Amino acid sequence: MSGAGKSTIARALVERLKALGIRSTVLDGDVLRTGLNSDLGFSEADRTENLRRVAHVADLFCREGFVAITATISPEPEHRDNARRIVGDDRFVEVFIDTPFEICEERDPKGLYKRARRGEIPQFTGIGSPYHAPAHPDLTLRTHSASVERCVDDIVEHLARKHHVGAGVIG
Ligand code: ADX
Repeated sequence: MSGAGKSTIARALVERLKALGIRSTVLDGDVLRTGLNSDLGFSEADRTENLRRVAHVADLFCREGFVAITATISPEPEHRDNARRIVGDDRFVEVFIDTPFEICEERDPKGLYKRARRGEIPQFTGIGSPYHAPAHPDLTLRTHSASVERCVDDIVEHLARKHHVGAGVIG
């Protein structure tokens, strides 16, 4: 959800991978929505299209040997399944940033929860629009009990163990 820590972890991960000599890029929902996806809103259909485009861009980066890190909400299981199909099951890693809703709302880094509570953002995820947590994510990160560095450790370890990313440099 918004404020869960997706962008923070994505940025820290890209830096860690860079230090290890592994090429990666961050595809951030907020950033992509200012350009490539600026024609889309937050209806169910627009979110589906937003995430379809993000998955295809990720796929292009993957094909060039990059780790593509996507920081997007993707509120429905179908969104994640569709992305997995586009990128390929062998390359897709579903990371659930499992931050309790109350903590996301308390953090409210962009003041969006306050605005949504005032009725100014009608389809806000978790308030006027549903969020269905993944039932079987590849990785679950708990930003309220683990540091950003610890979350990044978990992702890097998973990439090395399950996807052989950084073979020889991550041990
Ligand atoms: S998604 O649901 O379509 O995947 P995406 O990750 O691209 O979402 O964008 C979510 C970001 O858009 C949030 O982090 C927040 O900053 C902003 N945002 C603006 N309006 C909404 C809304 N109605 N619901 C969720 N996020 C919103």
